[in-house]
Amino acid sequence: MASIGTCLFLFAVICVAAGNSKNDFVTVNCDAEIVGMVGHQSLLNCSLQLSAEVSDVNIRVVRWSKKGRKLPVMVYYEGKWNKAPGYDVAESSWNEKSSNLSMLITSTSVTDDGEYTCTVVTDSGRSEGSTSLRVRAKYSPPEVHSIPEKIIENQDSSLICETGGGYPEGKIRWLDVHDKDWTASSEMEAKQTDDGLFQLSSKLLLKRGSTFDEYKCVVYNARGSKEMEVTFKPSPEKQKGPETHNPTHYVAPLVVIGSLAVGLLLLLVLCRRRQTQLARRPSTRPLMNNPQEVPTQDYDVEKGDDQKTDQ
Ligand SMILES: *[C@@H]1O[C@H](CO)[C@@H](O)[C@H](O)[C@H]1NC(C)=O
Ligand SMILES: *[C@@H]1O[C@H](CO)[C@@H](O)[C@H](O)[C@H]1NC(C)=O
Repeated sequence: MASIGTCLFLFAVICVAAGNSKNDFVTVNCDAEIVGMVGHQSLLNCSLQLSAEVSDVNIRVVRWSKKGRKLPVMVYYEGKWNKAPGYDVAESSWNEKSSNLSMLITSTSVTDDGEYTCTVVTDSGRSEGSTSLRVRAKYSPPEVHSIPEKIIENQDSSLICETGGGYPEGKIRWLDVHDKDWTASSEMEAKQTDDGLFQLSSKLLLKRGSTFDEYKCVVYNARGSKEMEVTFKPSPEKQKGPETHNPTHYVAPLVVIGSLAVGLLLLLVLCRRRQTQLARRPSTRPLMNNPQEVPTQDYDVEKGDDQKTDQ
């Protein structure tokens, strides 16, 4: 009986020892997944948790590495931090007793997307935790134009909707005034720019004679939620009658009419002035004491004109 008890006791000791050698008295806890926006800071949040048996540990090594990258992005070893550019310790006052192991990516880019591991070695054992960084970027407001610029009746045409600067790859959908989906009549192309962001361009084919007054281009992100939309009114080309859709077409005649009206008004004012002057002259002349005043005035005006032409 005693030997069985001893065996159980030994077994328990071995189990605990095995557990400790694997996990010791420390655990690294990380957020499972975090979302980072391109161009902004990302905090990969991890902390060191101590088991009840230990109250005080000293950190010897911290290593932050990214899956698929040979060298670690950040290492603490022999009392010194070695950091790749763009990576930093989140806690500014970090020391060997700090439990906050979080890493800060100062300006997130598409290439930062991925899995990260934080390994810690302390004088009470080692542990590691991992976290996923999901990088996102918002698409710019979409812009729509038609080909040709003026939709010609009895001719096929198309609408082009473009957006960019987004990540991951999104989608463009087309809706008409009644929210009927026309995406099946469109073709979308996604291009990745050097910074990894996506440029989306969709072409919607409009069959002759079946064009609506209004179309909506809607941008969806990779998770399938609507990000932005823009309404576009194709401007039809008309043979006769004034154009109402393109402002330049009615602005030009307005300018002509306007300047004609102003010209006529000026002419009218000038004529009236001349008439009143002619009518006044005989009556004002007797009131003036010095008849030379009139020529002086004329001279002054001429002088003014001379000055202008000199400049
Ligand atoms: C980091 O994690 C800690 C503990 O889990 C939490 O209290 C804190 O709010 C987190 N910080 C951020 C910025 O997520
Ligand atoms: C670590 O420090 C950073 C910066 O002060 C803070 O945002 C984060 O929540 C801290 N994380 C934990 C786990 O305490």
